[in-house]
Amino acid sequence: MSKEKVLITGGTGQLGIDISEVLKGQQYDVYAFSREELDISNNSQVIEKLNKIKPDIVIHSAAYTKVDLAEENQDDAYLINAIGTRNVAVAADKIKAKLVYISTDYVFDGEKQGKYNEFDIPNPKNVYGRTKLAGENIVRDFHSEYFIVRTSWLYGENGSNFVKTMLLLAEKGVQIKVVNDQLGSPTYTIDVADKISELIKTQLYGIYHVTNSGSCTWYEFANKIFEYAQKKVNVEPVSSMEYTQIAKRPQNSVLDHMGLRLNNFPTMRNWENALIEFLLTKR
Ligand SMILES: NC(=O)c1ccc[n+]([C@@H]2O[C@H](COP(=O)([O-])OP(=O)(O)OC[C@H]3O[C@@H](n4cnc5c(N)ncnc54)[C@H](OP(=O)(O)O)[C@@H]3O)[C@@H](O)[C@H]2O)c1
Repeated sequence: MSKEKVLITGGTGQLGIDISEVLKGQQYDVYAFSREELDISNNSQVIEKLNKIKPDIVIHSAAYTKVDLAEENQDDAYLINAIGTRNVAVAADKIKAKLVYISTDYVFDGEKQGKYNEFDIPNPKNVYGRTKLAGENIVRDFHSEYFIVRTSWLYGENGSNFVKTMLLLAEKGVQIKVVNDQLGSPTYTIDVADKISELIKTQLYGIYHVTNSGSCTWYEFANKIFEYAQKKVNVEPVSSMEYTQIAKRPQNSVLDHMGLRLNNFPTMRNWENALIEFLLTKR
C-alpha cells in the first residue's frame, strides 16, 4: 500500500518542524514547506503546490504569530492568518485532502471562571486572536473534513519560546520579572504533534483543544523551569498592569479537552511531566 502524503505549511516553525518529525517516523510521505517554498498568501502558488503534490492531509501550521506586532500590522496579520488560510482551505477542499488548522487559546477573552471547552463562544481580545478566529471561521466555511486544533503556550526544541528565553536569562544572571495573573497551560510541541497524528487517522472532524493538562501562571511556569533545570534564579512576580505589553492577553486561557474526551482519544499528559521530559532531552 502506498504511503499517505502529508503537506505541512509553516514547516520551518517550532510546531511545524516537530509535526514533520513525528509523522516522518510514522510512514507518511511528508512535504514540509518553508515560507519561501510555499507562501500561503500567494493563492496561485498554493493551488499549484497542492495540485502537484495531491496530499491526503494538509496540516496548516503557518501563521503570523507575533502577537504584539499584529496590533500595528493588522493587514499583514489578516493577510496571512485569514486570507492565507482561505487559500489553503479552498485548495485542500478541492483535492479532497483532510485539513488540520492550528489555532489558539487567544480566541477566548479569558473572562470565564474555569476552563474553556470547544463549545464556548470565542471573543478574542487582541488582533492576533481575531485573525486566528477569522481563520477558524474560514476553515468551517470552505472545507468540510477539518480538524481545528487549538493549542497554547507552546515550547519545544525549535524556534524561540518562553522556556528557552527563561533559560537564556538565567545564564545572564539577571533579575527576571514574570507576569503572575495570566493563567494557561504550557504545552510541549511534541505532545501536540503526537495528538495530531492520532486525529488525522480518524474521520472524527471538528474542534479540539490540544494542550498539556493542568495550568499555571507564567510566573509559576518560570519557577518550574528553573526548578527542573536546577538553576538558581530570582524571579519576581508582577501583574499584567505592571508588565505592559502592546496586545492585551486573556487572564484565563485554560482549555478543557472535551473534544478529546467525548471522542475517546487518550488524555493529554500534565504540563509538568512534559516540561521535565523536554528539559531532560534538550540538547
Ligand atoms: N507559539 C505559541 O505559543 C502558539 C500558541 C497557540 C497557537 N499557536 C499556533 O500554532 C501554529 C504554529 O506556531 P509556531 O509557534 O510554530 O510559530 P512559528 O515558529 O512562528 O512558525 C510559524 C511559521 O509560519 C511561517 N509563515 C509565516 N508567514 C507565512 C506565509 N505567508 N506563508 C507560509 N509560511 C508562513 C513562518 O515562516 P517564517 O519564519 O519564514 O516567517 C514559520 O515557519 C500557528 O498557527 C500559531 O498561530 C502557537
